[in-house]
Amino acid sequence: MGPMIDKIGSCAYSRSRANFRLYLVILFLSCWLLLLYVLSLGTDTRNSKSTKGMDLPTLYEYYTEGGITAGLETLPDTFQLNKKNITIFSGAIHYFRVHPDYWRDRLRKLRAAGFNAVETYIPWNLHEPERDKYDFGHGSSDMSLFLDVVKYIKTAQEEDLLVLVRPSPYICAEWDFGGMPSWLLQYPGLRVRSSETQYVDRVKKYNSRLMPLLESLQFTKGGPIIAFQLENEYGALTEDGSEEDVDYLKFLKEDYEKYGIVELLYTSDNPISHEERGSLPGVLQTANFQINPEDELSLLKKFQPDKPGMVMEYWSGWFDHWFEKQHHTTSVEAFSDVLERILKFPASVNLYMFHGGTNFGFHNGANIQDEFPHYLADVTSYDYDAPLTETGDYTNKYYACKHIVAKYNKVLTKVPSSPVVSKKMAYKPISVTGQLNFNQIIDRIVMWLVCEADH
Ligand SMILES: *[C@@H]1O[C@H](CO)[C@@H](O)[C@H](O)[C@H]1NC(C)=O
Repeated sequence: MGPMIDKIGSCAYSRSRANFRLYLVILFLSCWLLLLYVLSLGTDTRNSKSTKGMDLPTLYEYYTEGGITAGLETLPDTFQLNKKNITIFSGAIHYFRVHPDYWRDRLRKLRAAGFNAVETYIPWNLHEPERDKYDFGHGSSDMSLFLDVVKYIKTAQEEDLLVLVRPSPYICAEWDFGGMPSWLLQYPGLRVRSSETQYVDRVKKYNSRLMPLLESLQFTKGGPIIAFQLENEYGALTEDGSEEDVDYLKFLKEDYEKYGIVELLYTSDNPISHEERGSLPGVLQTANFQINPEDELSLLKKFQPDKPGMVMEYWSGWFDHWFEKQHHTTSVEAFSDVLERILKFPASVNLYMFHGGTNFGFHNGANIQDEFPHYLADVTSYDYDAPLTETGDYTNKYYACKHIVAKYNKVLTKVPSSPVVSKKMAYKPISVTGQLNFNQIIDRIVMWLVCEADH
């Protein structure tokens, strides 16, 4: 048995030596092929504008190269950031509608789609839930966890995004009282969104807490904020024929500036419905709409021939009211068509929304109408049929806008790969073990008030 084994052994040995030489040759050829492939990839990157090249700068490297000398500026046909042309590809994600644990994930998904900015409103009623009690993420209000707006804006910068903020202070946004604190209603004669003294005094107090937080986050101070909005669709207030309170807009501008806000200021309205109402001379006017991009943007250009076009709210979908039969949606085709026509015009754009999220607590707003049921409360979901679902998952709209942005973006920068889809799980059922009727609840509140007063 021994020699047999030897023989087979040596035979195997010599065959394996021959194989080894063959392997070497194959290895050598493979290396060459690999090298040629890598070289050809490099050429491809430069020729085909691929955004995957390893040598591309980040957005911040590109726009801050050689130091920051200027913020966002308007030339007749283009925006410039730090003296370099920029088309703003922005998406709205409200920090107060997304659990903070997911902020980075949602922002990265926006950046991964090729967008260069995120836009957010700032809700006054969450940040000053009780008169003179402020909460910017470290307070005691129920929503405190969601309120670290500074952290959110810094996270956006870490994710290589610029930021557009809309402190307004009225935000509309399908948000309770449009972001106005309910306690404003305790002042007899107070007129919200006007130059009425009591209201202005409260805005001044709020701004004195908010603006210093935003001041150091401005682009020219090394932060990510490139622009600030004044009010919100203020022109719509004149729909009932009332005079426009221009003094109020002037006050807001001066108050922002008092705190060292130096980046570009803008207003946003619908050009066809409101024409130039809601705007302020010297402040960029932007447009809100869902359809007719050429008509809207041409009119905007007629109002301000020396300024570039910007759509502050291109509605990617719509919100829902209780009792409506189904979720409002817009088709991917209609969505893509208008987005492409906006960019072709050419204009910059902010998708309202990129990711809607959730109306937590009882912070959903409502609309009123003449017909029954008159009061239309918004539902808890703010999915908005946006490119990312309420859960933060990708949709066909996501891939469509990623494709369109890549087509119109002339500035090639490094983008991250798309984050993986999150794992979903179901909570175990919870059984209700008790209940209180309305009077029992009232009794408890009274007891609690008495206890508070005793302290
Ligand atoms: C910047 O934009 C303007 C207006 O569209 C254009 O004329 C100019 O060529 C652009 N500059 C660069 C460097 O792309």
